[in-house]
Amino acid sequence: MLFVRVLLFSFTSSTTFAFLHPGLLVNNQDITRAKTKIDAKLEPWSSSWNKLTSIPYSSASYSSNAVSTVSRNSNGELLWHDAAAAFNLALRWKISGNDTYAATAAKIIVSWADTLEALSGSNDDDYLTAGLQGYELANAIELLRDYPPFVENGLSAAASMMTSIFLPMNLDFLNHVLGSEHNHKHFFANWELCNVASAMAIAVVVDNSTLWDFAVDYFKTGTGNGAINNAITNLVQEPGTGNLLGQGQESGRDQGHSAMDYQLLGAIGQQAWNQGEDLFGYNDSRILLGAEYFARYNLGYDVPFENYTNGIVSYSSISSSSRGAIRPAWEVLYAHYVQIKGLSAPWTTAYLNKTLERFGGFEEGAGSWGEGSGHYDGLGWGSLLYHMEDSDVSKVTSRSSKA
Ligand SMILES: *[C@@H]1O[C@H](CO)[C@@H](O)[C@H](O)[C@H]1NC(C)=O
Ligand SMILES: *[C@@H]1O[C@H](CO)[C@@H](O)[C@H](O)[C@H]1NC(C)=O
Ligand SMILES: *[C@@H]1O[C@H](CO)[C@@H](O)[C@H](O)[C@H]1NC(C)=O
Ligand SMILES: *[C@@H]1O[C@H](CO)[C@@H](O)[C@H](O)[C@H]1NC(C)=O
Ligand SMILES: *[C@@H]1O[C@H](CO)[C@@H](O)[C@H](O)[C@H]1NC(C)=O
Repeated sequence: MLFVRVLLFSFTSSTTFAFLHPGLLVNNQDITRAKTKIDAKLEPWSSSWNKLTSIPYSSASYSSNAVSTVSRNSNGELLWHDAAAAFNLALRWKISGNDTYAATAAKIIVSWADTLEALSGSNDDDYLTAGLQGYELANAIELLRDYPPFVENGLSAAASMMTSIFLPMNLDFLNHVLGSEHNHKHFFANWELCNVASAMAIAVVVDNSTLWDFAVDYFKTGTGNGAINNAITNLVQEPGTGNLLGQGQESGRDQGHSAMDYQLLGAIGQQAWNQGEDLFGYNDSRILLGAEYFARYNLGYDVPFENYTNGIVSYSSISSSSRGAIRPAWEVLYAHYVQIKGLSAPWTTAYLNKTLERFGGFEEGAGSWGEGSGHYDGLGWGSLLYHMEDSDVSKVTSRSSKA
């Protein structure tokens, strides 16, 4: 069931898009579904919930580690831990209804807003912080918009932290102002994808449709590797079936970073979908074509590979480094393409199965499945948020594409 994204015409006849809130990685339908399943003690929701509510990064007594300067290579974990905790606690609040968790999440965010001055000291890696922790924090803030004490006393400081510290770096990066970016394809796809995700997420938090359009347009037609036709460089034919598969920009590099690309593409797709912009479907579901290529190869099957170069690195074969890489990324892709859209996605389906087996039956989230930066590139909890029984699918409504 689709409904049209609302256009508000003001008396001065300027037009503003009304953003749906909460409308990034999580919307209220996801919360309601999770609650119902947990109340009915169903799996995989119950195990996901038990895990979410048992880890230190979702505890009501978690306290902020805010510092004035974050440098990814020296103290980056302070921010990625706190961003995960803020999101987990906000989610715990939305599902349980217990305000204590919202209060803790709000305290974490406000303390960062009061303390943080810059993301600097790691050279280029600071742009990864701006992108990755940018979209994560924005998602935590977005969930807390329904908590009045935060809206009255926190949201404006939090929004200002996002627009004055994170966003300018997201925009500089995507506008290719760094010296090395004279070659727009200098950075591997994951670097730009996280900055696209962050710019989109901040746009929703601050209700800025100009910024939203910039991020969406960049994804569609940008010149760097965060644009979908560059993130998935070319289409090849699957051996045996002739089905199209999408070769990923990082597939000649290694499979760990390639896995990260699908984690970020899932986040971008879901954030957009919740605002009525179907980036999942863009260009014949190119994200899915890429996911199918990745999943087939990482399940142990061969895929064709076409030579790739960006003028800096050149690859003439797919990399087997970290083949089989697991990230909490596949529930959203499966739910969207197979269940909501009814598309065939055999390799994505099998990869979800593989990741669920590895995680022990449900997709974990940030702070629950391991330490190190790679465990905090995404917020996870896909089984709690996106998993559906067949009878749930018809209840999913979405906004249609922007008129
Ligand atoms: C809300 O959560 C806090 C912190 O875990 C707990 O102490 C309190 O009992 C909870 N309140 C309710 C009504 O469950
Ligand atoms: C919205 O974002 C655009 C692009 O980043 C920016 O130029 C503009 O100032 C922002 N609008 C508001 C009201 O902040
Ligand atoms: C879709 O992908 C094809 C093949 O890579 C490309 O030629 C085309 O420009 C893309 N179209 C859009 C709308 O992005
Ligand atoms: C791909 O690169 C390899 C190694 O540089 C080269 O031998 C081969 O000819 C290239 N293939 C094509 C189709 O250009
Ligand atoms: C994965 O697939 C196997 C074989 O079809 C099945 O037995 C198992 O239950 C699946 N696991 C999950 C977690 O869905």
